[in-house]
Amino acid sequence: MSDRYGHIPVLLHEVLDALDPRPGEVYADCTTGLGGHALEIARRIGPSGCLMLNDWDMGNLRRAEERVRASLGADSPEIQTFCANFAGFSKRIASSGRMADMVLADLGFASNQMEDPQRGLSFSREGPLDMRLASQESAPTNTPGSSEHVPHSAADLVSSLPVSELERILREFGEERRAGAIARKIDEERRTHPISTTSDLASIVRSAVGRSDSAGIDPATKTFQALRIAVNDELGNLDALLHSVEAAMLGTSRSPWLAPGARVGVISFHSLEDRPVKRMFSSLRDRGLADDLLSGHVGPSVAEVEANPRSRSAKLRAVRRR
Ligand SMILES: C[S@@+](CC[C@H](N)C(=O)[O-])C[C@H]1O[C@@H](n2cnc3c(N)ncnc32)[C@H](O)[C@@H]1O
Repeated sequence: MSDRYGHIPVLLHEVLDALDPRPGEVYADCTTGLGGHALEIARRIGPSGCLMLNDWDMGNLRRAEERVRASLGADSPEIQTFCANFAGFSKRIASSGRMADMVLADLGFASNQMEDPQRGLSFSREGPLDMRLASQESAPTNTPGSSEHVPHSAADLVSSLPVSELERILREFGEERRAGAIARKIDEERRTHPISTTSDLASIVRSAVGRSDSAGIDPATKTFQALRIAVNDELGNLDALLHSVEAAMLGTSRSPWLAPGARVGVISFHSLEDRPVKRMFSSLRDRGLADDLLSGHVGPSVAEVEANPRSRSAKLRAVRRR
């Protein structure tokens, strides 16, 4: 279901089954992207419902809002938009005076971000070594004590982190076996010239570990994934979101933001993301705070993987607040 907005929503039918949107409900989308999930949920909650759309990429947020309004016209729900890190979304929902009946986090990047050479997310597209998913014009400034991480670009990390820290990032976030060799090569190269483009970094990795492995996968793949996760503090933000869900279910949030009976879904794309979701959702279930909606997780059908290869590794987990 790709249209002029380009991004195919992953596990759409599974999300709709699990979240079960009803007319008049409030939907909080942590990672609105191009609004693929939001649009279908908007159709179901209708004009008496409310969409709370969050994304730290202002361009995507605007496109998603325009897409829902253009598709649904007078049948569109009320729409509120938030251009910010989802780590703080629960506070914004609470300040709006609403409570969410459904929450979705579809983690990672949207396809238009990966394809944009200026983002520097892809080793196969020449561009600045940036990797920040947040719009820079809307990024919050660093405030002491703020829980919201303000990303540095990948070029900043690569030029400034100690070798041991680079090695840790590549090993932990990229599950890169040759992390030590790559980190040392980066250190050797940065002494003589700045590493400022995607192709600079990709060729350093290739020169450290060879051209491609037996499966033909580019050796820079894991390094790029690891740096993107580090730049955007992807695991830290996920942890903050999961803890805000836990606090709401425990009733310890400063202000309530999750309605009784609310459904919460997370779509992850690799085990580093899936593990904390699985752990938190089973702990909520074990404490009698939530019910599992999917007996574990659900993945894509063969037909979905054929139509959208990026869905291959997607896992949806979902719980309902008791
Ligand atoms: C996989 S896409 C979402 C696609 C969307 N569900 C759709 O159907 O079009 C992920 C989106 O999450 C956003 N994002 C990633 N991490 C974020 C964070 N910590 N806070 C806010 N937005 C984030 C990205 O900018 C991107 O637009």
